[in-house]
Amino acid sequence: MKYSKPRGTEDIYYEKFDALENLFIKLKKFSNNYNYRQIITPTFENINLFKTSIGNNTDIVTKEMFLLKNKSNDIFVLKPEGTASVARAIIENKLYNSSNKQIKFFYLDSLYRYERPQRGRLRQFRQFGIENIGIKNYLVDAETILFSIRCLEILGIKNNIVHINSLGNENTKKIYKEKLLKFLLQKEICNDCKIRINNNPLRILDCKKDQKEFIKIPKIYNFLEDKEKKYLDNIIKLLKINNINVVLNNNLVRGLDYYTEVVFEVSNDTSNWSQNTLIGGGRYDNLYKKLGGNDCPAFGFGMGIERVLILLENSEIKKYKNIDLFLISLSEKSYELSFKISDFLRKKNFIVEMNLDNTKSLKQQFKLSDKYNSKNVIIIGDKEVKENRVNIISKTNNKEIKNIEINKINKFL
Ligand code: HAM
Repeated sequence: MKYSKPRGTEDIYYEKFDALENLFIKLKKFSNNYNYRQIITPTFENINLFKTSIGNNTDIVTKEMFLLKNKSNDIFVLKPEGTASVARAIIENKLYNSSNKQIKFFYLDSLYRYERPQRGRLRQFRQFGIENIGIKNYLVDAETILFSIRCLEILGIKNNIVHINSLGNENTKKIYKEKLLKFLLQKEICNDCKIRINNNPLRILDCKKDQKEFIKIPKIYNFLEDKEKKYLDNIIKLLKINNINVVLNNNLVRGLDYYTEVVFEVSNDTSNWSQNTLIGGGRYDNLYKKLGGNDCPAFGFGMGIERVLILLENSEIKKYKNIDLFLISLSEKSYELSFKISDFLRKKNFIVEMNLDNTKSLKQQFKLSDKYNSKNVIIIGDKEVKENRVNIISKTNNKEIKNIEINKINKFL
């Protein structure tokens, strides 16, 4: 029987693994500059956590969760997103009771959604997420959105566009929904949107099929209270001052119910593939209370790592580090010396490979060193063992050969 990986998942190795690791290192370092600390939450959580937070009528909860059942018939799901888990962890561990400063967490997590797989849309995908908890102020929103763009930039992704919108408070949303329903009743809308009308009418705004029907759709901005408009305008102003390309997008609503007021997405100007939303996030001030915690404002975002990797396909981040040294051995005694040298150098943090198939000829071993793209090669024969000196052939420097003492190889490398 042949086995294959589940649809929408990936095996990650070689260059792609290196790129992923490189990206994680950069994002971790950069998050520390903003004083964010990392959090790891379980891979699976109780199903009700997501029903309560993301919303019972959302696509994620109705169609996309992977379910797990234990012997006592408790139902868990593989995490479809990180925000609810972080909130659960903060409430459960009483993290916000001990101080009144902001809680700033980031995570690098595998998430699971049963979606139709395509380029940049997987069933197991990775997300870099940020949650900034404790303060409601437009400065927090602006700083976090700016941070999201700077994250893309340090990874080498330029020309990003921020789409921003405000969904208003509960009252604004209620008034707007009534107006929207009146408008939609006169329009021909697709079957999905007919279902959404009852469940979640705001989601109709970002339906890709019905956009031509929506040219004169009421704009949510016109229903916002003055202070909500000012809040949004202040964010846009601050982002523009920092040279961020930001557009007000009245149709942006996002697919998770916990958002209140400001929501945003970041897409890339230079890519013309359909899944080019790299980042999505916004404010969610009611979630903590809903999950049984204190009233606690929060703002955050998630960045799709696979989508970022697609954009970085030909960049430096994908390049594999060449090995520093390949050891060729010609006799039994020379293998003993190769073991010694490789052990010594690896402990000093050099990347060393040596031939371990002692039936291979000198020529075959040389070919192997080419395959490893080694920067340097040493050939060890009986003479080298006797003299305790070796010839190092530099492959990067026109095959220059240097004869040096064994205990000085590390200095040379
Ligand atoms: P989201 O919009 O569902 O938000 O996901 C954020 C990002 O994750 C998307 O913009 C996309 O780049 C990536 N993504 C989502 N689904 C997939 C998929 N199936 N395959 C590949 N990439 C995907 C959230 O998850 C929120 N928790 C973000 C947030 C954090 N809001 C506040 N704090």
